[in-house]
Amino acid sequence: FNGIPGKRPPVFEGIPYVGGLLKFAKGPWKLLHEGYAKYGEVFTVPVAHKRVTFLIGPEVSPHFFKAGDEEMSQSEVYDFNVPTFGKGVVFDVEQKVRTEQFRMFTEALTKNRLKAYVPQFTREAEEYFAKWGDSGIVDFRDEFSKLVTLTAARTLLGREVREQLFDQVADLLHGLDEGMVPLSVFFPYLPIEPHKKRDRCRKALSEIFAKIIQNRRTSGRREEDVLQQFIDARYQNVNGGRALTEEEITGLLIAVLFAGQHTSSITTSWSAIFMAASKDKGWLPAAEEQKAIVAKHGAELSFDALMDMEVLHRCINEALRIHPPLLLVMRYAKKPFQVTTSQGKSYIVPKNDVVAVSPNFSHMLPHVFKNPESFEPERFTKPREEQARNYAYLGFGAGRHACIGQNFALLQIKSILSVLLRNFEFELLDPVPDADYESMVIGPKACRVKFTRRKLL
Ligand code: HEM
Repeated sequence: FNGIPGKRPPVFEGIPYVGGLLKFAKGPWKLLHEGYAKYGEVFTVPVAHKRVTFLIGPEVSPHFFKAGDEEMSQSEVYDFNVPTFGKGVVFDVEQKVRTEQFRMFTEALTKNRLKAYVPQFTREAEEYFAKWGDSGIVDFRDEFSKLVTLTAARTLLGREVREQLFDQVADLLHGLDEGMVPLSVFFPYLPIEPHKKRDRCRKALSEIFAKIIQNRRTSGRREEDVLQQFIDARYQNVNGGRALTEEEITGLLIAVLFAGQHTSSITTSWSAIFMAASKDKGWLPAAEEQKAIVAKHGAELSFDALMDMEVLHRCINEALRIHPPLLLVMRYAKKPFQVTTSQGKSYIVPKNDVVAVSPNFSHMLPHVFKNPESFEPERFTKPREEQARNYAYLGFGAGRHACIGQNFALLQIKSILSVLLRNFEFELLDPVPDADYESMVIGPKACRVKFTRRKLL
């Protein structure tokens, strides 16, 4: 079959052409539940003109994460981002150019670079929470979304945007966000109003960044931000070793922002919600840890101090396990491949299938994570160490295309939560909210939280 003999995975029956697309457009969460209950770890769903094969659980996922791009490719499934990121970057370019552009991302996020971003994270967090009163009611989701937009502006987009153009750029980025609806995944160029607005906003962002980049290049002024790293970067083995163009820099900045902003603010929200809801496992031990960290490192939230926060680290990882913001990671099968389920059934996934793994669904498998719905940060420590199994924990993806921004994200989230732990108590006024599975990046539904200012130290 396609060069390899064998049986194809079972096809989810009863989904008409348009029905599959509608189900997908509404968010595939329910579809995953139904498919897993009926067919188990591997099944195929016809979605409009495509076939999507789902792989559920660590046993059937190794090829997905390990295979090279010539076998499991990203561009065909993520190219719906091209009108948002722009031409000439990431999923609009061939693999060898993309690899170099990802190298530039990686170089903008090395340990030394991260050390320079940490004071910017903490400064933004301290200034933001200084504006809260002594007590009040907030929704973490809204608060962290605003704060992470500010820190992203400062550390990624640069001082000019953060200090002079913030409202204008934030509005334009919001327009890009609104232009990414579930339907865009299949029809990114459909002439619907959100797409038209996306294109207008994208053009305006290009113009703003072109001016900023020209200014920096002509004045020779340098800043501690990812923008500066991209201005300084050069291709090595492609494009004649040239520097990035203004348009490419704008595209890469938008790509990093899309990868990192909502994912980070949502993970901060879930972490704070779970820590406040399960005080004994979350807020209280994490506050105790803050005292020990201050005794060891002093009051400054330095890179080393943040790296030392193991209790907080586990709380964040556990929140990210229960609610990873990316419901699906996808590839395109350029070659057929074989999967064998834990029951020993073997299937051949054919060439040209879209292949999808769901971090959310995988994290809820009780044979991998015991009591999967319960907030238990201790599952990350001995003797449990449930995340240690290969391809079990997928909050930041795994394998060849695991998240490049993981350390950046964790340092940012820890900075924000540390400022909160040191200055506030929280009480949830609503039950822990459900996740909003119908959005593109999955976050909590509304949840009111009462805060009271107090000094921990
Ligand atoms: C890839 C999650 C923050 C940049 C990924 C993937 C996941 C993920 C699941 C794998 C996608 C796949 O396999 O197709 C997260 C979460 C974050 C976060 C949960 C926050 C809590 C960030 C930040 C940045 C970033 C802050 C940049 C500053 C990237 C990039 C990739 C990626 C560039 C693509 C890597 C590749 O394809 O080789 N992320 N991410 N992420 N992430 Fe993150």
